[in-house]
Amino acid sequence: MLRTHTCGELNEKDLGKAVAICGWVGGRRDHGNLIFIDLRDGYGITQIVFNPQLDAAIHKQGEELRSEFVVRVEGKVDKRPAGTENRKIPTGLIEVHATKIEILNKAETPPFEIMDNITVTEESRLKYRYLDLRRPSMQNSLRLRHKVCKLARDYFDERNFVEVETPILTKSTPEGARDYLVPSRVNPGMFYALPQSPQLFKQILMVSSMDRYFQIAKCFRDEDLRADRQPEFTQFDIEMSFVTEEDIYELSEGLMKKIFKGAIGFDLKTPFPRLKYSEAMARFGCDKPDTRFGLELSEITDLVGDCQFKIFQDVLKKEGRIIAINAKGCGSYSRGQVDQLIEFVKEYGAKGLANFKAEKGALTSQIDKFFSKDELAAIKKRLAAEDGDMIFIVADKSKIAYDSMAALRKFLGKTLKLIDEKAFNFLWVTDFPLFQYNDEEKRWESEHHPFTSVHPDDISLLEKGESLGKVRSRSYDLVINGTEIGSGSIRIHDRKLQELIFKTIGISDSEASLRFGFLLNAFRYGAPPHGGVAFGLDRLMTFFIGCDSIRDVIAFPKTQKAVCPMTNAPSPVDEKQLNELNIKIKK
Ligand code: AMO
Repeated sequence: MLRTHTCGELNEKDLGKAVAICGWVGGRRDHGNLIFIDLRDGYGITQIVFNPQLDAAIHKQGEELRSEFVVRVEGKVDKRPAGTENRKIPTGLIEVHATKIEILNKAETPPFEIMDNITVTEESRLKYRYLDLRRPSMQNSLRLRHKVCKLARDYFDERNFVEVETPILTKSTPEGARDYLVPSRVNPGMFYALPQSPQLFKQILMVSSMDRYFQIAKCFRDEDLRADRQPEFTQFDIEMSFVTEEDIYELSEGLMKKIFKGAIGFDLKTPFPRLKYSEAMARFGCDKPDTRFGLELSEITDLVGDCQFKIFQDVLKKEGRIIAINAKGCGSYSRGQVDQLIEFVKEYGAKGLANFKAEKGALTSQIDKFFSKDELAAIKKRLAAEDGDMIFIVADKSKIAYDSMAALRKFLGKTLKLIDEKAFNFLWVTDFPLFQYNDEEKRWESEHHPFTSVHPDDISLLEKGESLGKVRSRSYDLVINGTEIGSGSIRIHDRKLQELIFKTIGISDSEASLRFGFLLNAFRYGAPPHGGVAFGLDRLMTFFIGCDSIRDVIAFPKTQKAVCPMTNAPSPVDEKQLNELNIKIKK
C-alpha cells in the first residue's frame, strides 16, 4: 500500500508516529507562514500542515497544491494547538506535519465543491457522479448500503437460505409494468425481457426442492418514474416452501429488526401491527397508510342519502363515495387556505372539496342549507368534530375519493406537524383483493400477480365467478411510514386453481402456455406449497439515510426521464449493430 493509514483513522493514540496517507486535496488555507490542507479520502479528513520552519522546500510544494489533486503525504502526527481542535470529526484533535509530499495526479477545477450541504442541480450531480460520490454523505450512503446487504446476507445464511442468481436475459415476468426488451442477434426477431423480478424463477426453485431461496436481485421495470421508483432497482427477494403467512411475517420481522439495529442502532418492536386492506382503505383511503398520525377518514355516504346537495346526489346515483376528514383545529382557515386545499385535491382528480366549520356546537358552511339538522348532527358526530375544527369532504368515484382524501390527510398531517419524524411505523397490510377491475379494458386483472393464492374462504366466489371484486388473496405488503417497502404472497401451487385464475383474468390456455408455460410445466411435477416476499432495498435505504429520493442511495441512478447524464444512456447505436439485430428505426 502507498499509505499506512486512511484519512479517517489517525487520532491522539497515534501522536508522534511517522505515517503516510493518500487522498484528495479538499480545502487549502494559507495562514501566513503555515499552509493547511484537508486531505480527504472515503474514510474521512486529516489536516496536513506545511511549516516552512520545518522544511522550506516542502512548504513551497504545499503552495502548488490545488483542489482535488491526488497526493501522498509523509509526515509526523502531532497534537493540534489548544483552541484549534475540531471535535466534530474523529481526526479533529491531531494534524500531520508534512515531511514529504508527492503529487500522484493533478485535477481540473471541479464543477462544484466537494462537500455536503451545497446547492448544485441534480443533473450536475449525476453527470459528475464520481465527484458527487466523493461527498461524505454519499460515501456514507454507499457504505451503509453495503453494510445492510451484508447484514441481510448473514441473516439469511444463518437460517439456511441459499442465494441463487436467476437470469437477467429472460422471458417477460408480469409485475404490472412494461418490460425492457433486448433483441437476440442469433435468433432474429426474438427478444429477451429483463426481469421485472425473479418471481417465476424463485417459484421454480421451490419445485426444484431448493426450499429456502434468497437473492439480492436487480429488477427492471419500464414505468413512470418518481422519487421512489427507478427503472432498475434492487430487491431482497425471498421464497420458501412449506410455509404459511405467519412464517413469512416472522422471517421478515426478524430481518427488519436485524438491519435497523445494525444499520442505525434502532430497536424495532415486533411483531408489527397488521391491518386488513378493507380497513386500511376505510380509515386511511389507501393501502399503505402512514400510521404515525391520526386524522383518520370517515365515510359519510350512508348519512347524506336524502340531502338536497346536487353534487352529492349525483355521486350517490353513480354509486360513488362521500369521504370526510376532520381537520382538527383548522376551523379558522382563511378562504385562501381552503382554496389551496381545493386546488390540492383537484390534482388527484377530485372536482371539489366541500367544507364545514364546527362552531357553537353545530356545523356551518356555504352549503349547509342543503342538509337537514339531523344530517349535519350525524356528520358532526361521526367525525367527532368539536368547535374550532373543519370538516373537508370529497364526493366522487371510489378511487378518486380515496386517492384525494388520502393525499389530503398526508398533506394535513405534514402541515399541522402531527408526524413524529423519528418514528418508524411498520404495518402489514393483508387480505388484499385478488383482482381489480380495469375500467379501460373492461376486464378483471390480478391486483398483485396471477400466481397469488386465494383466501380459502373466497374460493367458492371465485369458482362461481361472482363478486370478483370481493375475492381476497393471500398477499401482504409491508409498509413503513406510508411507503410500501415489501410485498409478497402465498402462491398457487395447484394447476387447476392457476388455470381458473388465468381464465378469470382473460388469459386463454394458449396464451397462458405461451407466456408462463415453463412455470405451468414445472407445476406438473410436484410443486410444494410455497410463498415469499420481496423488499425494495433502495426504499429501505432512504429510511436509514433519511433522504426523500432513492437516487441518493443508488451509486449510478437514472433521472426522472430514465436517462443517465454521466454515460448519456440510452443513446443511439450505429447502423451496423442495428443491421445485425435486424432492427430498423422508424424515422
Ligand atoms: P413488487 O412488485 O411489489 O413485488 O415489488 C416489491 C418491492 O420492490 C420495490 N419496488 C421498487 N423500488 C424501486 N423502484 C421501483 N420501480 C420499484 N418497484 C417495486 C418496492 C416493492 O414493495 N415478485 C414480487 C414479490 C413477491 O411476490 O414475492 C414483487 O416484485 O419496495
